[in-house]
Amino acid sequence: MAQKINCLIIGSGGREHALGWKLKQSPRCGRLFFAPGNGGTGQLGQNVDLAVEPVNTKHADAIDYFCRTNDVAMVIIGPEDPLAGGLADRLQRDGRWVFGPCAAAAKLEADKAYAKHLMRAANIPTADARSFTDYEQARAYIEQRETPVVVKAAGLAKGKGAIVTSNTDEALDALRRCMVDLEFGEAGQTVVVEERLVGQELSVLALVDGRNLYVLDPAQDHKQIYEADRGPNTGGMGAYCPTPLVNDTLMSQVERDILVPTVDALRREGVDFRGVLYAGLMLTAGGPKVIEFNCRFGDPECQPLMMRMKGDLLDVLIKCCEGRLDEANIDWDPRNCCCVVMASGGYPGKYETGKPITGIAEAEADQGVKVFHAGTKRGKDGALLTSGGRVLNVCALGKDLKEAQQKANAACDRIAFEGAYFRRDIGHRVM
Ligand code: AMP
Ligand code: GLY
Repeated sequence: MAQKINCLIIGSGGREHALGWKLKQSPRCGRLFFAPGNGGTGQLGQNVDLAVEPVNTKHADAIDYFCRTNDVAMVIIGPEDPLAGGLADRLQRDGRWVFGPCAAAAKLEADKAYAKHLMRAANIPTADARSFTDYEQARAYIEQRETPVVVKAAGLAKGKGAIVTSNTDEALDALRRCMVDLEFGEAGQTVVVEERLVGQELSVLALVDGRNLYVLDPAQDHKQIYEADRGPNTGGMGAYCPTPLVNDTLMSQVERDILVPTVDALRREGVDFRGVLYAGLMLTAGGPKVIEFNCRFGDPECQPLMMRMKGDLLDVLIKCCEGRLDEANIDWDPRNCCCVVMASGGYPGKYETGKPITGIAEAEADQGVKVFHAGTKRGKDGALLTSGGRVLNVCALGKDLKEAQQKANAACDRIAFEGAYFRRDIGHRVM
């Protein structure tokens, strides 16, 4: 039996819980650590109290020290902030595997103006856009536009920095929120004003080992807070996978015209992308166009992907880190998975925390149901409490999307915490 490999997962969301759950099934997975983890990950492995957001030199040194003293040979970095902050660059030493791109590659997500520049240079289909650092110039540009725009904070804003508008007044208001009120902090000092695209949204994620790509099954996220896709954007209220929106031909087109040229364009700039390249796409009448790139697994898209992935995740990630992705064995459960996010009342605005959660064991009693934790923590007595906006990710497998959705909703009905809110219509756009 080969030596066991101790693993550290950076992050605290449902994505990290799902990655840990899948990793733990690998025969070679040794001790499993989460930094900082949540109320669910602490049952799967050990939560360690290390600061990861923001990552500064002192924090990165502490994480490196933890890895050395605990024989951690594999680090998986979930969220974008530590990636953009260079944590992967810092930890990659002494033969340690680090899954997640270097800061130069993570810029693809962390700086939307840079991503636009790269796409334009490589002829990758995306919405027409202009970047501004000057408020008056941006205002003048918006005033002379005749078609609807999306106003985006160029930096990282937890998925909430894009404001979709319908007319000039709304666009000017959005611009004010970004550049004058600094609602998204520093992230909004540069703004991207782009053409509003119409169509279905799709998340296509690929594992990239610097050279080879392995495209994962397509998923669809539901960003808006209310049913029927109304209300403000959130970090994601649910996702399902696979989606019938794309066939193999279209997936090949996405790989050929979007994913491969992006990795190549980065390489021409001297940047080696290793990790997950996530293309947020709009399926427009003129073909798929990029809305955004992310440099990590999507949350919640990762949860249905992990539910359906067959095979040894640890082995796949090691091969990805070593540039041997072409040797990895990956297979998929043919069933559909629906993931419903249970959120705190008031999210994505103000919400309360510290509410006791009940019913998870009852929800998981149904075959094919798994509840991943996001914003949860343990109270002094070990009781499970809410601690964030997105609290739980309730995932269910079904023979089709309808069955998966029904099972996920029924599981949510068994779970209770004060103010709990979820959408019952995840997957509605194709049902
Ligand atoms: P982003 O932060 O760029 O991922 O945008 C968040 C969400 O805003 C996307 O998932 C879309 O729902 C919406 N959005 C962003 N850009 C556009 C666009 N150009 N046209 C239409 N909707 C968009
Ligand atoms: N689900 C969208 C994201 O992870 O950015």
